[in-house]
Amino acid sequence: MSDPWQECLEHCVEVATQAGKVIREGLKSDIAVMHKSSQVDLVTETDQRVERLIISSIKAKFPTHSFIGEESVAAGAPSVLTDDPTWIIDPIDGTTNFVHGFPFVCVSIGFTVKKQNSAWCTVASRTKCTQRAKARAPTATAFPSRSPGRKDPQRFDAMMANLRSVLTIPVHGIRSPGSAAVNMCLVASGAADAYYHAGIHCWDMAGGAAVVTEAGGVVTDVSGGPFDLMSRRLIAASSRAVAERLARHITEFHVGRDDADGS
Ligand code: IPD
Repeated sequence: MSDPWQECLEHCVEVATQAGKVIREGLKSDIAVMHKSSQVDLVTETDQRVERLIISSIKAKFPTHSFIGEESVAAGAPSVLTDDPTWIIDPIDGTTNFVHGFPFVCVSIGFTVKKQNSAWCTVASRTKCTQRAKARAPTATAFPSRSPGRKDPQRFDAMMANLRSVLTIPVHGIRSPGSAAVNMCLVASGAADAYYHAGIHCWDMAGGAAVVTEAGGVVTDVSGGPFDLMSRRLIAASSRAVAERLARHITEFHVGRDDADGS
């Protein structure tokens, strides 16, 4: 993205650094855990505080910009992507990790203009995808728990079947650090060749997708088709060949959209 947005990038890095400090402080104190849509959908006071900090700081600098934030949406704000300059924020990507002191958490901030994800990122400028034609490094995904009362048992079975299928490609292994943005930074840095997930949200994908693209990787839908930020599904891979191969091993299942009912 060209110069007009340079100021946005600089402010983004500044506010993300402040947010990181708040998260590190939060890890040192007792963490009160609250639940959102289910017993495994966790949120803490630190998630909410960090999101308020990021939004108020960006709003003060860019009052006409729009926002989609994980905790604001959980509190009832709309989740609609427009052509406006829009900040898409996950204050703590890896909240479950944060709660348990499992040391992979990050702040994820994406920025879109006319619905296009920004193509610049300071992390990305220091990283490079492997661009291998076959997946050699581990592939990453998420393993959400099948908690009692969780809506869709078929979805759980489909996820497990996909895992089995991907393991037969073959790949060197599967890793799951528990944060979508961390997974995508692992692809961008070459430590993983691919990451796939169906069921995440735009705030989990927006920042990381830009990092992967900027590092020379590709982001697609789990079908192998074009990536759609509001679709709740993605493959992030070191090369198109790896993304296409992975897509052939994934059976799609319904996850809804972020700009529909959010379910
Ligand atoms: C979660 C993480 C996790 C993924 C979940 C996300 P959150 O984000 O990215 O890796 O499996 O689907 O909800 O809730 O910690 O911001």
